[in-house]
Amino acid sequence: MRIVCIGGGPAGLYFALLMKKQHPAHQVTVVERNRPFDTFGWGVVFSDATMQSMRQWDPQTAQAIEIAFNHWDDIELVFKGRRIRTTGHGFVGIGRKKMLNILQERCIELGVELVFERDVQGDEEFADADLVISSDGVNSRIRAKYADVFKPDMLMRPNRYIWLGTDKRFDAFTFDFRRTEHGWFQAHIYRFDDTTSTFIVETTDEVFKAHGIDKMDQDQSVAFCENLFAETLDGHRLMTNAQHLRGSAWLNFGRLICEKWSHFNGNSHVVLMGDSAHTAHFAIGSGTKLAIDDAIELTRQFDLIGHDKASIPAVLAAYEEIRRVDVARIQNAARNAMEWFEVVGTRYADTLEPEQFMYSMLTRSQRISHENLRLRDRNWLEGYERWFAARAGVDPAPNDAVPSPMFTPFRIRGLTLKNRIVVSPMAMYSATDGVPDDFHLVHLGSRAMGGAALVFPEMTCVSPDARITPGCLGLWNDAQSAAFRRLVDFIHTQTPAKIGLQLGHAGRKGATKVAWEGIDQPLEHGGWPLISASALPYLKTSVVPRAMTRDDMDRVLADFIAATERARDIGFDMLELHAAHGYLLSSFLSPLTNLRDDEYGGSHENRARFPLEVFRAVRAVWPQDRPMSVRLSAHDWYEGGNTPEDAAIFAQMFKDAGADMIDCSSGQVVKEEQPVYGRLFQTPFSDKIRNEIQVPTIAVGAISEADHANSIIAAGRADLCAVARPHLADPFFVMHEAARIGYAEQPWPKQYHSARAQYVNNLARAAAPAIVSKP
Ligand SMILES: Cc1cc2nc3c(=O)[nH]c(=O)nc-3n(C[C@H](O)[C@H](O)[C@H](O)COP(=O)(O)OP(=O)(O)OC[C@H]3O[C@@H](n4cnc5c(N)ncnc54)[C@H](O)[C@@H]3O)c2cc1C
Ligand SMILES: Cc1cc2nc3c(=O)[nH]c(=O)nc-3n(C[C@H](O)[C@H](O)[C@H](O)COP(=O)(O)O)c2cc1C
Repeated sequence: MRIVCIGGGPAGLYFALLMKKQHPAHQVTVVERNRPFDTFGWGVVFSDATMQSMRQWDPQTAQAIEIAFNHWDDIELVFKGRRIRTTGHGFVGIGRKKMLNILQERCIELGVELVFERDVQGDEEFADADLVISSDGVNSRIRAKYADVFKPDMLMRPNRYIWLGTDKRFDAFTFDFRRTEHGWFQAHIYRFDDTTSTFIVETTDEVFKAHGIDKMDQDQSVAFCENLFAETLDGHRLMTNAQHLRGSAWLNFGRLICEKWSHFNGNSHVVLMGDSAHTAHFAIGSGTKLAIDDAIELTRQFDLIGHDKASIPAVLAAYEEIRRVDVARIQNAARNAMEWFEVVGTRYADTLEPEQFMYSMLTRSQRISHENLRLRDRNWLEGYERWFAARAGVDPAPNDAVPSPMFTPFRIRGLTLKNRIVVSPMAMYSATDGVPDDFHLVHLGSRAMGGAALVFPEMTCVSPDARITPGCLGLWNDAQSAAFRRLVDFIHTQTPAKIGLQLGHAGRKGATKVAWEGIDQPLEHGGWPLISASALPYLKTSVVPRAMTRDDMDRVLADFIAATERARDIGFDMLELHAAHGYLLSSFLSPLTNLRDDEYGGSHENRARFPLEVFRAVRAVWPQDRPMSVRLSAHDWYEGGNTPEDAAIFAQMFKDAGADMIDCSSGQVVKEEQPVYGRLFQTPFSDKIRNEIQVPTIAVGAISEADHANSIIAAGRADLCAVARPHLADPFFVMHEAARIGYAEQPWPKQYHSARAQYVNNLARAAAPAIVSKP
């Protein structure tokens, strides 16, 4: 085959040498517009996994790269006058020039034709090629030519960065944060050879412009950075080698995804590789790794399917299918890390203390968890746990066990919770006339015995017509009050847990069947008229609600106040106002369900008017020493609906009205929603609201083990974690998770003590390697 790689970066060169090596009969050419030893950029970092595949595919290249590598384990944070260092992180770095030169030399050795200083205008220049590799980088001309086929989606990110070098040799991957009068800058610094370190400086567009950097030339912007990071540079200079870039040489990162990666142009098959197919932000340093992995996979497919022209279509299809999955995974992690650096100045840097800032930074991609940090650097993590515990009011003696973050207490108004785990409200649809019975006593009682610090019964409705189903709990009469008192007294006298109450009104989602008879389906008999912000049914088949009048509002307001007075007298420890999931108050907040043109519709202020009125009225009768939270749908997951930005605006309003916590859920507002589920999928909303609005939060959603909760609490992404479904599966979730991570201080009910040692031993036995005995 005749193969031409347009672009001699890591992707083009590595693919060329692998193909020539695997099948020397191929005629392989790499065409590069630069000169051989001419390249922009400084060092790049790699993972051990990529090196392992490189060793397998071409030991010679791998060896040459490994000799030129710089390996380091430490990460150092320079922040607010402190230097904090952790170890065990394992990176390797190499100069980009050095790496390209190694690849070029190996290409020559294997017989690849290298053509330099030729700026290719299009693939038609190589009409005799069977295969054209578009390895011409992020601004690929070839991809642009076939944009209607490849359908590139390039999302330009808001931050600005400049890729510089310095002759100072840093001995750790260093992150240096500096505040100016306009905001924060950060430098990502790592050494890649005996004399040089990469020094990338990044900031937001606003700060960049506020300093007038957009008007500077390269020398001026380098001088600006030298001055800003003078303390860290310690007399060393910053250098640029991006002479090909105009202006100040600051760039915006573009996140690239392509819908298709290959195309037959009539003569040749053209395929995208490396940065021309996809990009991953430098915050997790994976662009070169992805380019190398692409080259390996395409070669592997030729080996598997056949090194002949006829096999090309099948090879390209298989290459794209396999690489897409890995690329999406890396892009996901890179996105989290990139977004962290985009918001760091406005969200974390001014408020977090250096210790917690370091933890937040280390876990920015959400791929490194609490226990993973323990494996990397036990000493540092234990030091951090001690610091965190002290902030939470626990001060263990030097040799005493330190509780991990989820097992530290949390105080809010007059309420002290023993740990950070909450049993999230979950409708059980098992009440008669709204009255909790033995089922609720056993269900909630056993979960309160299971170790959670705070237990919520399901959404409790303020009037008969506020119920979702005839089986929902309610609090509007004495029979309900008496039954709730029995439950609350049991929990207070028999367990260490506290109990909160979530008050709500179903709105347009009312008068439906219980879940197991048809979730959201309207009752066939015995339904009741519905009210909502606007006269929009939830499903096409749902009862159409009446748009609330002021009289309706007054009645609902009075019902909320009366239910709150009952909750207060019963002795609930905390109150949550349910303003999420498309129920009545949520229907006012979302523009998808609130089409009103009076003072209760339109702007954020108007949409929040009635929910805030209810909140204030309830807060006024709820005792001052007991906290109140508000549950919000922080994302409607549907075009035109509320986004986390809107949720932050509402969170600020509720905070100003006296809310102590925001419980950050999402969705269930409209049936057509398109949520993106995943591990901890709602935690970013809690993170945003907690750290931007400076209000304590509850994170909820797919938090299913201690490691998740510890990572969230330790990083300051929430103050409490609500755990719902795992508590249905296991009432003793908290006791079991404590045992699993070896936290011995978690109390068990005294009646159950004799089971504890056996449970812990069984866990240890299950974790130990099996002993295989001969028959
Ligand atoms: C600030 C910054 C920091 C980074 N840090 C890291 C890191 O730490 N680790 C990491 O793995 N990655 C990092 N990257 C990303 C990494 O540089 C790229 O992902 C990687 O180089 C992609 O390789 P490639 O071969 O696909 O493209 P490139 O390396 O961009 O190579 C494309 C080549 O094609 C040539 N070319 C383009 N058009 C033509 C044409 N028309 N004719 C002829 N030749 C042409 C170019 O001159 C270039 O040599 C970083 C990127 C940036 C911007
Ligand atoms: C059976 C069931 C009933 C639920 N009922 C309520 C409810 O009454 N009020 C509420 O705010 N959320 C309710 N939810 C949502 C949960 O509180 C929680 O937010 C959601 O299940 C995500 O958490 P998880 O991933 O830990 O299950 C319910 C969830 C389930 C599974």
